Amino acid sequence: MSSHSFSAQFPVARPRRLRRTPALRRLATETRLHPSNLIQPLFLREGIDQPREISSMPGVYQHTRESLRKAAAEAVSAGVGGLLLFGIPLEKDPLGLGATDPDGILQVALRDVVEEVGDATVVIGDVNLDEYTDHGHTGVLGPDGDVDNDASIERLADQAVVQAEAGAHVIAPSAMMDGQVGRIRAKLDAAGFSHVPIMGYSAKYASAFYGPFRDAVESSLKGNRRAYQQVPGNIRESLREVDLDLAEGADFVMVKPAGAYLDIVRLVADHVDVPVAAYQVSGEYSMIEAAAAKGWLDRDQVVLESLNSIRRAGASIIISYWATEFATRLER
Ligand code: PBG
Repeated sequence: MSSHSFSAQFPVARPRRLRRTPALRRLATETRLHPSNLIQPLFLREGIDQPREISSMPGVYQHTRESLRKAAAEAVSAGVGGLLLFGIPLEKDPLGLGATDPDGILQVALRDVVEEVGDATVVIGDVNLDEYTDHGHTGVLGPDGDVDNDASIERLADQAVVQAEAGAHVIAPSAMMDGQVGRIRAKLDAAGFSHVPIMGYSAKYASAFYGPFRDAVESSLKGNRRAYQQVPGNIRESLREVDLDLAEGADFVMVKPAGAYLDIVRLVADHVDVPVAAYQVSGEYSMIEAAAAKGWLDRDQVVLESLNSIRRAGASIIISYWATEFATRLER
């Protein structure tokens, strides 16, 4: 065999052929991101007259009512699929009363944003008492000092109703209380909101990656959420939580955090027949921003790679603090 014919026949398979030019690589790409895959979280802070940058999340702001409208409009121009709104009240109390007050801060945010953007994107409310409670837990406490699950889900369902009344297009309960989706569905239906979908934060882990978010919402939590959020080492428990949320009427399911839990995203995506969301949480954002600020990583490449990886793992919806910025940079 001449050396020439040897090189023509071997290796038989040459996967590199499809990687040779940018056009070939583009044609052979399996996973693509579209702006509509992305949801931008936004924070409205009560009682400030200038937007405040969150120190552990450079580039992310606690908004005023005015700057919130602007951020919402920019996100819509960038083509994002949705906005996930959070409110930070001035006053906190044991029951988290601001959560269910029709004029509470998140309801103000929802009304403003829905007025600003109309139906051009999907406006989602985070249903949880943690921003409003002085103890920082996601529900109300019983006499023993532990979270009272069944009393909490009543408050969460009331919160969902006031958010729907304020114009929320989708309700996203994140409190990890048993039965929350079912109770919310029942109260929404009874209040005339049977058309409002529920995005369950179904598989939500007790993760240290939420650290910077606690700064963002000025959480007063002293302890931790391990008595209601999932154990990071568990896998099957996520399927149980997802199945329960679907049985209770969830229209979307979510895995959170995303980056360190891509195995769970894939598992859930293979398991369900509803859209799957994944939340690229605050710590994922801050880590990349911090390393990039030090010149240790190429920020733009790493952000795109992280978003594409979450999409590749099976999430068709990605909640990301980079949504607006990177929606405008996706390859068309
Ligand atoms: C609860 C909520 C949290 C996040 C989203 N909704 C905080 C928590 O559960 O501790 C975390 C988001 C993030 O870290 O970016 N309101």
